[in-house]
Amino acid sequence: MVGPRLKGRHLLSCGDLSEDEVWSLFHLAKRWKSEKGNGEQRTILSGKAIALYFEKPSLRTRVTFDLAVHQLGGHPILLSQAEVGIGERESAKDVIRNLNRWVNGLVARVRQHQTLEEMAQYSQIPIINALSDREHPCQALADLFTLWEKWDGLKGKTLAFVGDGFNVSHSLLLLCAELGVHCRVSTPKGYEPNANIVQRAKERANRHGSQVLILNDPKAVVSDADAVYTDVWVSMGQEHEAAARLEVFRPFQVNDELLKGAKSDAFVLHCLPAHRGQEITDEVLDSDRCLALDQAENRLHIQKAILAALIGGFFDGTGDRS
Ligand code: CP
Ligand code: NVA
Repeated sequence: MVGPRLKGRHLLSCGDLSEDEVWSLFHLAKRWKSEKGNGEQRTILSGKAIALYFEKPSLRTRVTFDLAVHQLGGHPILLSQAEVGIGERESAKDVIRNLNRWVNGLVARVRQHQTLEEMAQYSQIPIINALSDREHPCQALADLFTLWEKWDGLKGKTLAFVGDGFNVSHSLLLLCAELGVHCRVSTPKGYEPNANIVQRAKERANRHGSQVLILNDPKAVVSDADAVYTDVWVSMGQEHEAAARLEVFRPFQVNDELLKGAKSDAFVLHCLPAHRGQEITDEVLDSDRCLALDQAENRLHIQKAILAALIGGFFDGTGDRS
């Protein structure tokens, strides 16, 4: 029963969504994916404008949000940091107070998560996090949706994240915990996920019968895992740390050798863009077990469900949890 409860809400973190809300989004995305653009979805955002604001580069997020708004009958307005200049040309507070008067929602990729939180204080329209230095919720939702399609169920599965304890790992931790998926994260020392997010994920995991484990040993987390996930070692904005990071992350490469420890039918996930030869080898990224392109495709479908529920107020009656 997700529609009424999600209408008008922000999505800044995976921690903003309950298990039931996530499942409703998944079922809606699945239905519309199979309808291939026909039917009810075409008018949900008609007469509505959605601002898409990017402070960092993007391929997948930019294309899929633009398409998603179009396919729901809305009008996307693309804005760049160079034009709008939040915090430089104008404060976050003043930007959102203007957007409130014109558009029905804001999708924003920001350097600092704080910018989203500041805007949310003054916002009368839903704000959707399209990646910040804390989280990437739309990515994690697409990722778990992708695994659900493959497995036909999520509870009790184990996802091993190998690499940097940064935005993508944070969203995965919070979402896996809520969905009953065991989440193990392995990073080099000093690159562990944010302690507050880990604590929050553990609290969610306790309520849903899942486990959260943070280690510094990639082999240990991959052991018997159902899925192995990795992300770049040098995220956008960390380029000045590249040399040190490439050195310290080397033992955390996802390659055929590391994957020997996982289940033989384990999937490999990557949010992309990939730095081939660094966090993942060509062989693994191009292998049949790698779901990176399914994840990318599913960004479109899950984001349509998010936009429809938060901004379109679309009500979906399904209460299924699998
Ligand atoms: N995965 C992802 O968000 O890709 P982009 O940075 O290209 O949007
Ligand atoms: N951690 C990466 C994710 C890119 C989708 C980054 O922030 O650059």
